[in-house]
Amino acid sequence: MASTIVLVSDTHLSRARPFFQFNWEIFLQAVQANPPDLVLAGGDMALNAPSHPDDLAYAREQLDRLPCPWAMVPGNHDVGNNPPPPETVDTRGETTVSQALIDHYRATIGPDFWARDIDAWRIIGLDSLLCGSGLPAEAEQASFLESAMAEVGKRPVALCFHKPVFRDALGEADIFQGVWYPQARRLIRPHLDSGRVRLVLSGHTHEGRDETHGPTRHVWMPSLAFVTDMLGEWRPNLRGRRRVGWLRLKLGDEIEIVREEPDELLTTDISGWMRSGSIRLYEAFTGHRRFPGLPNDPGH
Ligand SMILES: [Fe+2]
Repeated sequence: MASTIVLVSDTHLSRARPFFQFNWEIFLQAVQANPPDLVLAGGDMALNAPSHPDDLAYAREQLDRLPCPWAMVPGNHDVGNNPPPPETVDTRGETTVSQALIDHYRATIGPDFWARDIDAWRIIGLDSLLCGSGLPAEAEQASFLESAMAEVGKRPVALCFHKPVFRDALGEADIFQGVWYPQARRLIRPHLDSGRVRLVLSGHTHEGRDETHGPTRHVWMPSLAFVTDMLGEWRPNLRGRRRVGWLRLKLGDEIEIVREEPDELLTTDISGWMRSGSIRLYEAFTGHRRFPGLPNDPGH
């Protein structure tokens, strides 16, 4: 019988600012009542580790409450975001990935890229935030991926990382921080083109989506914590479902995915924090900065 994997992402947990703890508790109860063989966490488990490192330590404590093994890939709120390509003007103002943040992640959670065989499948977890960083770990990850794919044999492969590969198509040239930058896709493109990757799992957008492109099913995990612009008033249409929840996955000959959205969950919409296109309000309420409008607010 195929193993069951619960996919949870973007939990945005914090001891200091526990805005989204309630949904985590509901999730824990559900997992404890019906434990899977593995919980796979898609990143942004911390609320804002680059500005508040204890958030990641707290996320680790929460993951350790799970009644089963777990694995995690890092998100931009765990290790910092990808540096924007040089030809773009970055208006978002988010902390970018650094060696210190990677070191903190590895010390707190474990490896940021890894491979794990489950039944007939191989799952390869990658750190999509390393792409374009120029850090030594970026080259190490590329070598690791080549080795992990070279030894895979006939196993079907699932890749898991924080950011979706693309918005509309693998070959798109648009630069959009919600997905992998076009240049970065060179890391995984040969493996996607080869047809050996049957499944790609990602988080980050806080939208659930399930589309098959070529030989590969691309599944966007929903956030457990919050959505942005549920009404579709200003955020680009990504064809995703703006609801909080998680997924149950079975990897056998077929890929079975069930969406879990229990009535108990609170769906929070943080539109107001994000509408400006800057991360400033998110940073003010989650990070080390003072709240906006107060003395010493660096935005004033
Ligand atoms: Fe994210």
